[in-house]
Amino acid sequence: MTSGPIADGMRRRRSQPSVTGDAPTKRELLPLIEAAASVADHGSLRPWRVIALRGEARKRLGFAIAEAAGLEGGAAEKMAQKPLRAPLLLAIVVSPKKSHKVPEWEQESVASGVAHALSLVLDEAGWGVIWRTGLYTRSKAVHRMHKLEPDEKLLGWLYIGGKAKTKSGRRKPVKAKDFLSSL
Ligand SMILES: Cc1cc2nc3c(=O)[nH]c(=O)nc-3n(C[C@H](O)[C@H](O)[C@H](O)COP(=O)(O)O)c2cc1C
Repeated sequence: MTSGPIADGMRRRRSQPSVTGDAPTKRELLPLIEAAASVADHGSLRPWRVIALRGEARKRLGFAIAEAAGLEGGAAEKMAQKPLRAPLLLAIVVSPKKSHKVPEWEQESVASGVAHALSLVLDEAGWGVIWRTGLYTRSKAVHRMHKLEPDEKLLGWLYIGGKAKTKSGRRKPVKAKDFLSSL
């Protein structure tokens, strides 16, 4: 099997649905974001940004999701707990830049690449990560809660915390030959 530190890290990475209350500091995050930012980026437009949600900001996100879902009272309270599953959420934002050459779908691809790369380097740094979305990720209430510009869109949140002791099961291997064809 072809090997190298990046390939090994990618094979080893597993999403962590349950994490502990530890979280990387801003200082610890910055070099990881810088590394993730090195993904291919047509025109170097940097069409993305990251918003950190800690503490009660996570609950406000839960209430925004509840509002989008039309929930009230106890049901809204229950929804507001969901983002509390990790001490740090990083909202990944597609922040499109004006360009005649690079259409928006390409810019979304760059932001998505940053999110995947960031998951990988966070995992390598020892943090537990899972990328989560939901039906209301692009709802008005959630957009407003993040103070996004009108043309900005969310790709979801990386839920980050300490790696719990529980072992993740093995990922079903992908038969690469089923995904490769030639013309
Ligand atoms: C864009 C995107 C959105 C996702 N949204 C969710 C989600 O809302 N809830 C969830 O449990 N997993 C979600 N996932 C899947 C997990 O992040 C994860 O990839 C999956 O549980 C498989 O685990 P693995 O990464 O260890 O293979 C999402 C993945 C991506 C790329």
